[in-house]
Amino acid sequence: MTTRATRPLVMGNWKMNLDFVEALHLVQEIGVVLHHQPLEHTDLVVAPPFVDLRTVCSIVESEQIPVGVGAQHVSQFESGAHTGEVSASMLRRLGVTWVIVGHSERRTHYAMSDEVVAATLAAALRAGMNAVLCVGEDEERRRGGEHQSFVGAQLASALSGLSPAARSVVTVAYEPLWAIGTGVSASIEEIAEMGTFVRATLDDLGATGSRILYGGSVNEDNAGDIASVRSIDGFLVGGASLRAASFLAIGRACDDCYAGKR
Ligand code: 13P
Repeated sequence: MTTRATRPLVMGNWKMNLDFVEALHLVQEIGVVLHHQPLEHTDLVVAPPFVDLRTVCSIVESEQIPVGVGAQHVSQFESGAHTGEVSASMLRRLGVTWVIVGHSERRTHYAMSDEVVAATLAAALRAGMNAVLCVGEDEERRRGGEHQSFVGAQLASALSGLSPAARSVVTVAYEPLWAIGTGVSASIEEIAEMGTFVRATLDDLGATGSRILYGGSVNEDNAGDIASVRSIDGFLVGGASLRAASFLAIGRACDDCYAGKR
């Protein structure tokens, strides 16, 4: 049983799934359930593809659905000749208040360097957005025992250019690459070890108020156990966020844990 100072956060990263019609249906379904059975302690955020954001923001506002809306990526630049990019101020104008920064798929498949991650994080915060900074090691680094040093360096690099006040509003998602999309999450011991390590590193960096999420094959069956890990304040969910029932079950697991019901 764990009591927490911070409200848990469960964010659904839809990745490149669901067109705007499908997105509309999923958010409406989430809304219907939440209006009947609201979560008491847990913040929910959905992060659809860019092209769905306007539709999702409109329905969230008009139906007063208690979820935040996030983007999966944002440009480090304000405007100009950056074909294919979207700026933080454009997202803000739509009502998007959250953004995922430095997801491992962007770092790995789109060569997003630590420097670009740091610049993107700074741009998101400058625009007044809530940022979820993703960190995590690959399988090779895990096998080589370098997971702490690698994640520590990712955190230091991303946060070093920010003021202490800005550092504390960043949410950090620890997502080991080897647990993403595999159906097998990291073990409770591995999550607890890295959660404690990330918390200590954030304390050293002056980011004392940050929430720490776990991501990687979270589902309705394992969410309760992982949520009870002391250092973990919620989840960044991929596949299981594409269905209202499993996304909300994960939210409810956080709620129950926060309320000390487990
Ligand atoms: P899965 O939950 O599908 O493993 O994805 C995790 C993730 O990458 C969320 O950002």
